[in-house]
Amino acid sequence: MTHPRSRLPRANSRAVAAMALTAAAALLAGTPAASATPGRTGPAAAGAESLAAPDIPIGNVKAHLAQLQSIATANGGNRAHGRTGYKASIDYVKARLDAAGFTTTLQQFTSSGSTGYNLVADWPGGDPNQVLMTGAHLDSVSAGPGINDNGSGSAAVLETALAVSRAQLQPTKHLRFAWWGAEELGMVGSKYYVNNLPATDRAKITGYLNLDMAGSPNPGYFVYDDDPALEKVFKDWYAGIGVPTEPETEGDGRSDHASFKNVGIPVGGLFTGAGRTKTAAQVTKWGGTSGQAFDRCYHSSCDTTANIDDTALDRNSDALAHAIWTLGTESSPPGESYENTADVAVPDNGAAVTSSITVSGRTGNAPATLKVGVDIKHTWRGDLVIDLLAPDGTAYRLKNSSGSDSADDVIATYTVDASGETANGTWRLRVQDVAAQDTGFIDSWKLTF
Ligand code: TRP
Ligand code: ZN
Ligand code: CA
Repeated sequence: MTHPRSRLPRANSRAVAAMALTAAAALLAGTPAASATPGRTGPAAAGAESLAAPDIPIGNVKAHLAQLQSIATANGGNRAHGRTGYKASIDYVKARLDAAGFTTTLQQFTSSGSTGYNLVADWPGGDPNQVLMTGAHLDSVSAGPGINDNGSGSAAVLETALAVSRAQLQPTKHLRFAWWGAEELGMVGSKYYVNNLPATDRAKITGYLNLDMAGSPNPGYFVYDDDPALEKVFKDWYAGIGVPTEPETEGDGRSDHASFKNVGIPVGGLFTGAGRTKTAAQVTKWGGTSGQAFDRCYHSSCDTTANIDDTALDRNSDALAHAIWTLGTESSPPGESYENTADVAVPDNGAAVTSSITVSGRTGNAPATLKVGVDIKHTWRGDLVIDLLAPDGTAYRLKNSSGSDSADDVIATYTVDASGETANGTWRLRVQDVAAQDTGFIDSWKLTF
């Protein structure tokens, strides 16, 4: 049954007829309805926004090192895989993270007949589809306490994670921290983690940052040059304090980042040098002793709390915080548009139809002022009920039907508070014609973030 209504005189009924013809022609020509690839336009290089990082207190980082030294001393002088000092180190780090609100997971594996452990700590929140991971190996060699290799990286990553908690950071990306076991046996723990991660979870890791040997006593300032974007965030920080850096070359792939790089995950990191000798040119840049190893106690019993350069460890801790804050809180530039220009017929007094726009490559949620540009040609727009459907299906009413709104067409831009919705995913415009006689089609529609 059709409801009665009065038809108002039309200003330009020929134009309406022509429009209807255009729609029919487009549909007859087989224009795909909702499957066209939406165009993406917007400001070219607007530059992502992100928050400034706090200073990481070096005293706190060194307090963790003192704890790791005590653990080694109490457990036969080392914190090596399969030894009691390793498990005690894991327990120490885990307790600090648990108290700070992290969700921690202990992952067990077996290597050389002994049980090994990885500790994974997730900071609740952020986009679960974009994971920024940071890690350090927590095991030492059996020859010594492993304070520079790699208590230094472990402590810097721990204190940065605790700073995330102190700031109650609400990052756009999901932040995950990890402490690896059995690195010294050939990156066993990190390989185990990566190999046991389902492919879908692997694909969510946007980057992995590694710290291994972050406070060598005769330090160099090396930045992993594996991924240009991750390298840049560290180099920018060092440029800001006027300290030159060099690309890390002392055995590429000799730490846990290799496990991630091997499966195609972008990696970055910091390193202050191991057994290699510092050159005169490097002393000119960084000070220290030329002709001497960056770490003369590398893999030996003298790798104690005395084997740390505080300035290097302080800088690398702050640089890491800068990288996590920058990469973890960056939001996509505003103003980008996504459009679907494929026509979709709206059946007269019939079922709802939809047209989709798939958004990808953004971070975080949609804005509170998401603009929905709608261009629907119709001979009596009062017939139309229009909703925006978020990727999770939540409907936002853009327009209700009206028995008295006899004008043509809906050509309008609506503002939707979509701040509770993830930006990435398939958005749909849902249009239903709820009254007989007049008809039309979705000509195009557009989302502007
Ligand atoms: N733990 C590492 C190892 O013994 C130390 C190391 C050497 C390293 N070269 C490196 C760490 C380069 C990072 C990058 O192999
Ligand atoms: Zn190491
Ligand atoms: Ca109608």
